Amino acid sequence: MPDTNRRWLLAKRPQGMIKDSDFELVSGPVPEPGEGEFLVRVTDLSFDPTQRGWLAADTYLPAVKIGAPVRAGAVGQVIKSNHPDFKPGQMVQGTFGWQEYVVTKGMTETGPVTVVRGGVSPEHALGVFGVTGITAWFGLTDVGQPKAGDTVLVSGAAGATGSVVVQIAKALGCKVIGIAGGKDKCAWVKDVAGADACIDYKSENVAAAIKALAPKGVNVVFENVGGEILEAALMNLALRARIVLCGGISSYNAEDLADMKGIRPYMQLTVMRARMEGFIVLDYAPRWGEGVAALGKLMAEGKLKTVEDVQHGFENCPATLRRLFEGKNVGKQLLKLTAPPLPVV
Ligand SMILES: NC(=O)c1ccc[n+]([C@@H]2O[C@H](COP(=O)([O-])OP(=O)(O)OC[C@H]3O[C@@H](n4cnc5c(N)ncnc54)[C@H](OP(=O)(O)O)[C@@H]3O)[C@@H](O)[C@H]2O)c1
Repeated sequence: MPDTNRRWLLAKRPQGMIKDSDFELVSGPVPEPGEGEFLVRVTDLSFDPTQRGWLAADTYLPAVKIGAPVRAGAVGQVIKSNHPDFKPGQMVQGTFGWQEYVVTKGMTETGPVTVVRGGVSPEHALGVFGVTGITAWFGLTDVGQPKAGDTVLVSGAAGATGSVVVQIAKALGCKVIGIAGGKDKCAWVKDVAGADACIDYKSENVAAAIKALAPKGVNVVFENVGGEILEAALMNLALRARIVLCGGISSYNAEDLADMKGIRPYMQLTVMRARMEGFIVLDYAPRWGEGVAALGKLMAEGKLKTVEDVQHGFENCPATLRRLFEGKNVGKQLLKLTAPPLPVV
């Protein structure tokens, strides 16, 4: 077992796109678990756009403190344990952050450490059965409430959440229009994720393209991007449309309000008697099992394919987070640090 623990600490609050210099890579001894604690070696890290917000300011969680490890979801293996409920060798999941080893009593910043179910890979634990899949499932079904025959518009459709939303909506009998950046991603959204159409926002007029594909308007908008893409969606609503405000990545690097993208045609909500509603996946913690079961069923039926973009090397944490904002990922963005099974003590 290595005797050093590397950690990426937040050095300063990022301005605009994150830079390596916003973080500091430090090495120290591997921590020893005390009474009632256990030691986890992190094997896989999840990368999520919301991390950018956590670095900047208090949001639905307090901002990461300067000098603290960068907050991130992760899977790891229990290496040593003085805790009655966690055994060496077990694979566990929690908000362990950008660090190779972590000592915990079983509670992390976003909730309890959980044991990864047997047969579930770290990629699936963090992706389709983690925040990504649960966001897609409850955001679409609970907030968006699509009915068979509805037209569902999904932005960020080649990303982790969007690509799952596309497939759930198809499985529910909807017509699905994706929006993604670039011809290759759009081809993937149609050919692999199974959308009926995909609009390349980098080369097409999005509002005109939606109108051509859905002349009667869209019933559900699953919004991951915001700004001009949300404006184009608002200009093409069907009566009583539901807009699921999942995310707005186009503004996550904005430095202040003036730098944020607005939503000018908001009165379309009134005109079309539409509802726009935000949600935070953490609120669905009590229903997590229900979501996992529904997603597992779709996978077993061959209706849900998962795609992960797996980078390697702990030193690449900042670059991997940047990939989300550079549009480099297709599917769930992960970073693999090491592969289990690991020697345990
Ligand atoms: N509400 C919740 O509880 C919750 C939970 C999870 C995620 N989310 C939100 O869901 C959204 C998707 O998250 P994810 O984890 O699935 O990430 P993701 O979609 O896999 O990755 C981000 C993607 O966003 C697109 N993007 C980046 N910058 C953009 C810009 N300026 N304009 C347009 N598109 C841009 C890129 O795709 P292209 O190449 O296609 O541009 C990129 O690949 C995010 O907004 C996130 O904050 C919300």
